[in-house]
Amino acid sequence: MKLQDKVAIITGGAAGIGFQTALLFLKEGARVVFTDVNQRAGEEALNELKKESQEVLFVKQDVSQEADWETVVKKTKEAFGRIDILFNNAGIYVIKPIPEITMDDWNRMMGINVTGVFLGLKHVLPEIEKTGSGSVINASSIAGLKGSSGHLMYGASKGAVRLMTKDAAAEYASKGIRINSIHPGYITTQMANYASETLNLTKRELDKSYPLGRMGKPEEVAKMVLFLASDDSAFSTGAEFVMDGGVTNIV
Ligand SMILES: NC(=O)c1ccc[n+]([C@@H]2O[C@H](COP(=O)([O-])OP(=O)(O)OC[C@H]3O[C@@H](n4cnc5c(N)ncnc54)[C@H](O)[C@@H]3O)[C@@H](O)[C@H]2O)c1
Repeated sequence: MKLQDKVAIITGGAAGIGFQTALLFLKEGARVVFTDVNQRAGEEALNELKKESQEVLFVKQDVSQEADWETVVKKTKEAFGRIDILFNNAGIYVIKPIPEITMDDWNRMMGINVTGVFLGLKHVLPEIEKTGSGSVINASSIAGLKGSSGHLMYGASKGAVRLMTKDAAAEYASKGIRINSIHPGYITTQMANYASETLNLTKRELDKSYPLGRMGKPEEVAKMVLFLASDDSAFSTGAEFVMDGGVTNIV
């Protein structure tokens, strides 16, 4: 059990990567609070996760809203007394040509993907500090490492997550709190379905664009998040963990 008795908050945990991470954390002995803006999906996910462990709580949250973060921290402390781990996972993905991006598009993307991570750091780091040590994992993307057509908004948001991770890691290293970012390529969640439709590429074509011949699975990302949440990664902070079938670094 790599996370025995640790208390973890996972945002956007009703589906995809967040859900698989909540499941794996529970299997590894953690007590998990997962949040989502989608109440119904959150309740369905809660029923599934309770088959694994009763040490799980769902809190409805829009990560872009500061008051919602205050509620999440309060409910986590009421239920489990402390916080050791934060996975800033919630995010949205929109592909659009630059001239078509509206101010609403831009503000929504920044509100969820950037402000959401900032508020998570602001409200949860002081709580982890009280426990004495801990780990934060921020979901960036390979879009936070390299440019791609149609990705101005998303790339800007994930680039911000990459650097916020390093700035926060610098501020909290001496306090025993490690903060790292993950950078997945396409993972087979509803985001990859959206990419397939929007880019007019079949799943097979998306698979073939990766040197390893396929997109990633949410379970594979969850294992990386577990590594970063646990003491197995005790000497890593401010670092970028890429899982992308080789697409960023090899030809
Ligand atoms: N799937 C991919 O290909 C991929 C690749 C790189 C990075 N990522 C990143 O990984 C993270 C998770 O992606 P996923 O593929 O599991 O996505 P997903 O769409 O399957 O799940 C995201 C969850 O976040 C929730 N959410 C959306 N807005 C929210 C908000 N304002 N507050 C709280 N919850 C909110 C959604 O309801 C959903 O349940 C995202 O940050 C995403 O950008 C995904």
